[in-house]
Amino acid sequence: MKPDRPPAPEPEIDEADLLRRARDARRNAYVPYSGFHVGCAVLSASGEIWTGANVENAAYPLSGCAEKTAINAMVAQGDRGPILVVAVVGDGKDPCTPCGGCRQVISEFGPTAVVVASGDGGRPLRTTVDQLLPHAFGPVRLAQRDEQ
Ligand code: THU
Repeated sequence: MKPDRPPAPEPEIDEADLLRRARDARRNAYVPYSGFHVGCAVLSASGEIWTGANVENAAYPLSGCAEKTAINAMVAQGDRGPILVVAVVGDGKDPCTPCGGCRQVISEFGPTAVVVASGDGGRPLRTTVDQLLPHAFGPVRLAQRDEQ
């Protein structure tokens, strides 16, 4: 019998640091149309932290949210997660919770991710992608397409 492989070490999770990084990334937001700045920091199981900001376009539908920008950067550079934590910081006093599309994107690479959302005032909102997007559509559904 093969000896059990030791479990991969869990990266340290410092949510305050992730929120700081998201707030820093927000400074790079390109938002000439909405004026609404969003920054995001994603902690992958690899231990890497990936950041993004929203990037708008004069052709409005081509604009991209901060969460998707961060996650696309992660994947494009060879890290597929799973995502452990997503920290989002938007303008305004209330927590900036991810939009519906971003919930789906987070779920693809972090089905059990914790989401920490913040604004510039008050306490951050701490939840999970499963709470934000219950009964999510995901890769498992597609894998079942030929089963009957
Ligand atoms: N936005 C994000 O970056 N993330 C969200 O989850 C909500 C919305 C951006 C999109 C757009 O650039 C601006 O905020 C206003 O909707």
